[in-house]
Amino acid sequence: QTIYAITPTYSRLEQKADLIRLSQTLMHVEHFHWVVVEDSNFKTALVTNLLSESGLNFTHLNNITPIEFQKGALAGKSSRGVQQRNAGLDWLRQTLHHGENKGVVYFMDDDNTYDIRIFQEMRYTKRVSVWPVGLVGGAIYESPIVKNGKVTGWFTGWGPHREFAIDMAGFAVNLDLVHSHPNARFSYSTKPGNLEGAILKAMGADISHLEPKANNCTQVLVWHTKTSKTELTTDKKLDNLEV
Ligand code: UGA
Ligand code: MN
Repeated sequence: QTIYAITPTYSRLEQKADLIRLSQTLMHVEHFHWVVVEDSNFKTALVTNLLSESGLNFTHLNNITPIEFQKGALAGKSSRGVQQRNAGLDWLRQTLHHGENKGVVYFMDDDNTYDIRIFQEMRYTKRVSVWPVGLVGGAIYESPIVKNGKVTGWFTGWGPHREFAIDMAGFAVNLDLVHSHPNARFSYSTKPGNLEGAILKAMGADISHLEPKANNCTQVLVWHTKTSKTELTTDKKLDNLEV
């Protein structure tokens, strides 16, 4: 089955570097469709060109974060990527037919680091599959706790009492779940840090159903890396050099 990955992205100095790294990882993945959603009123030339030159199967969308939830407005108190992931879910529901297109849906940040083996792990997700994520929540890694092949709890650096104490990069869902829960969407009213649990609950997930991957959750194959912001000390540019 095809992996449909939804990636929100926004303009910043580091965007091209992050997207080049991510797209060149994805070039190694077969049966993959990348849904890239720009946080913008329009499709930028940078993302348009990068996608078309990548040779990847992709859908390019744009959907800007409502002004009241943009960074700064709420001083970073709102979750990021909500509007864009919803646009991606809308596209999946409208474009792919329930039962006809077999697939798995994965929410990918544009700045994380992915071992290509994670895609093999998630490809045969029946309902919801889960695995460890490195460098997240103030910890070296977070992981589902697995006993006798079943998830029984969460090893986390933060918010251990969350029903699903897992980062966005740590799970994938079968496309059927997206279709059979047409109202499952991300929301700005979800407390920051709880988007993952909220969407999983909205899709009817239960801890007893989770499918542990990455050798019973003993391998880290994805890292919640964050690209540091370049502090410009000059904004001088050469006029013949493309950035
Ligand atoms: C963490 C999780 O990894 C995210 O999946 C989750 O959305 C986020 O927390 C949250 O709950 O707000 P973090 O690394 O802190 O993410 O956030 P970013 O990587 O800065 O943003 C997540 C995604 O949204 C990225 O793909 C980013 O490009 C995009 N984004 C960010 C926008 O589209 N617009 C913005 O203004 C900021
Ligand atoms: Mn990130």
